[in-house]
Amino acid sequence: MTRLYHAPGRANLVGEHTDHTDGLVLPAAIDRGITLRGAPGGGRIRLTSDGFDEVADVAADGSDPPQAGFGRFVAAVANQLAAAGRPAVGITGHLSSDLPRGAGLSSSAALEVVTAIALCDAADHHLEPIELAALCRRAEHLAVGVPSGIMDQAASILGRSGHAILLDCQTLHHRAVPVLDGHVVLVLDTGVQRELETSEYRQRLEELRSALHVLEGRRPAEMSPGDLPRLLSSLDEIPARRLRHVVTENHRVREVVAAFETADHPRVQELFAAGHASLRDDFEVSIPELDTVVELAVDAGATAARMTGAGFGGAAVALVREADAEEVGATVLDGYRRHFPARQGVVHVCRAADGAQRLE
Ligand code: GLA
Repeated sequence: MTRLYHAPGRANLVGEHTDHTDGLVLPAAIDRGITLRGAPGGGRIRLTSDGFDEVADVAADGSDPPQAGFGRFVAAVANQLAAAGRPAVGITGHLSSDLPRGAGLSSSAALEVVTAIALCDAADHHLEPIELAALCRRAEHLAVGVPSGIMDQAASILGRSGHAILLDCQTLHHRAVPVLDGHVVLVLDTGVQRELETSEYRQRLEELRSALHVLEGRRPAEMSPGDLPRLLSSLDEIPARRLRHVVTENHRVREVVAAFETADHPRVQELFAAGHASLRDDFEVSIPELDTVVELAVDAGATAARMTGAGFGGAAVALVREADAEEVGATVLDGYRRHFPARQGVVHVCRAADGAQRLE
């Protein structure tokens, strides 16, 4: 019998480059993602897809991973599920997606998660949501070899309609926080594609890690911005800037949650702007295209805007009053194309959505 599963992408609202040092994040799952329609059975996983020409055809325990293509992610998930005790039941199906790839909206996490829930369901194998997120993160590491954090997989699994998810990446405690009332999540995709494996993600992480000894075993989320002058004094400039971003960004997560809860729009705007500046100047993962769309969005009336995801390309996120969303989006696109005539930007009006689930 054919079954239908869906896993959303995510737009991170704040807490960027904080997950890999066990910090705080506030992503929202969005109403775009990957759908798998498939029938369980047999000893292989065979998936076709609208977005890719190739077919993923891998053993149900992921023991024969392909070298390239989206089958790598499918095999890595199957492999990790087998290690977690899932019986090797296969599935034959088709993947369709309305999530742009390379836009920083976690299409690879959505692929891992939709594969994982379908395979668990096919074999009647149950895992707690946060265990499933950790497993999909390990699958991502296996597939692409980049030591990314747990945020993307957790957001795709834990998402809740109208809410962002406040997650502590060390304790894995999480709670849903309502996104500003009457607002939608505008995703401003610069059209500058990037993949984690070819980006400077790993290098940023190494630069950050080279600064961590000054914390003497504590994590950046336990420090406050007031500690920074003392902490940074013995560090070289690059590690100092990377650590300053992560300490201030963890602090901003708490502040954004407080500002959401009191509907303090000017404060949300200020915090998003400070977060973007910190990613641009201290963590150095923004690009001129992202800086431009963020500025254009605020000028056009967005309540707040910043780049989202790993950076080096991809998208920015803006919180915009629902009634203004189309107009703000059109104004940003227009301005963007004037600044960068060679770029094809795209705007997606998104809503915070529920996490991955079986649909029928
Ligand atoms: C990518 C990674 C995440 C996180 C973000 C930056 O999306 O997959 O784990 O590190 O970048 O916040």
